[in-house]
Amino acid sequence: MPIITEIEDLKRLYKRRVPRMFYDYAETGSWTGQTFRENSSDFDEIRLRQRVAVDMAGRSTASQMAGQDCTMPVALAPVGLCGMQSADGEIKAARAAEKFGVPFTLSTMSICSIEDVAEHTSKPFWFQVYTLKDDDFMRRLFDRAKAAKCSALVITVDLQVLGQRHKDLKNGLSAPPKLTPSSILNLATKVPWGLEMLQTKRRFFGNIVGHAKGVTNPSSLSTWTAESFDPSLDWDRIREFRKWWDGPVILKGILDAEDAKKALDVGADAIVVSNHGGRQLDGALSSIRTLPKIMDAVGDKIEVHLDSGIRSGQDVLKALALGAKGTMIGRAFVYGLGAMGEAGVTRALEVIHKELDITMALCGERNVKDLGRHNLLLPADFADRWR
Ligand SMILES: Cc1cc2nc3c(=O)[nH]c(=O)nc-3n(C[C@H](O)[C@H](O)[C@H](O)COP(=O)(O)O)c2cc1C
Repeated sequence: MPIITEIEDLKRLYKRRVPRMFYDYAETGSWTGQTFRENSSDFDEIRLRQRVAVDMAGRSTASQMAGQDCTMPVALAPVGLCGMQSADGEIKAARAAEKFGVPFTLSTMSICSIEDVAEHTSKPFWFQVYTLKDDDFMRRLFDRAKAAKCSALVITVDLQVLGQRHKDLKNGLSAPPKLTPSSILNLATKVPWGLEMLQTKRRFFGNIVGHAKGVTNPSSLSTWTAESFDPSLDWDRIREFRKWWDGPVILKGILDAEDAKKALDVGADAIVVSNHGGRQLDGALSSIRTLPKIMDAVGDKIEVHLDSGIRSGQDVLKALALGAKGTMIGRAFVYGLGAMGEAGVTRALEVIHKELDITMALCGERNVKDLGRHNLLLPADFADRWR
């Protein structure tokens, strides 16, 4: 059993175990990858204020996100194709999150369906929807999420059109993988992954195949995806979706203070400050750099979460100290999932939890809820460098 002490350890194992096509799918940003890289490197610009001789006994990372109690304010972000990173990946990740006591978000583009995940878990999870043109399909998706007792709806608003990720095109990304001479050569080096995959029936997009009109096999799915995302999405349509859902609605993909105010206007309960992990607009600011202005604009009126670039508990702490009520991790849990299945997701959460707890203590805080800007040292122009 390898010794895992940091997320980077899981990433190394993940790279060895999972076919290159799916590693590349997760580990890239769009176009040049500038925003993808800066999402993480901008966290490094923020320093922490060390305090000493403060009673650090009895610490707590417990908090709430969208009305739900959590062991720490870190939810698993919606990630498509988890079931290709590890067989039945969404079920494994949801179970790890449930046992750890943090929210799990199932993506529309998952391999395991909403019903599958509900059947294999015992606590409600969050469901993420993309905004699609087909009203019937959208209505049914909402109804299915209600029937599965999902406790919050995450509407992703930053993917009306898809940001180009070069490697996906070059690798011919598909689920299940298309067999080409180069993919066969690579798959031949991933035997444990392949054996697990052969033992599951879940190898297609479970929320779509058999549910969306005319999609019965994966080859028509790529056409469906290209044709279905709604490029004409506007705030009125988001307001309409908000009305379809009785519980908490979280708008994910807000990166601008003006958009944050609009999210408030349409009645969202929370927003996720996110640039989709640098997978959409290359050249956009990192999420953490946009957070201060968004907090100034809406922070006292709406619950704000942040994702994109988080690879450690220190990163989580920095986001919370800048005012976010919660955070989401994407790749950090995907590395664990691909490396070691459910146990790997648990390990990713344990690593981040320990880092958060110890860092909090060394900053002289006993409770995550007390973190604030007083714990940070920021470059004078952190939020203002790019005008
Ligand atoms: C492989 C991959 C697939 C993703 N799929 C989705 C998705 O289906 N829906 C969604 O809203 N966001 C999706 N995202 C974005 C994540 O929800 C999240 O915003 C992002 O991963 C955060 O950045 P991080 O990976 O640096 O933590 C995906 C991200 C990755 C890496």
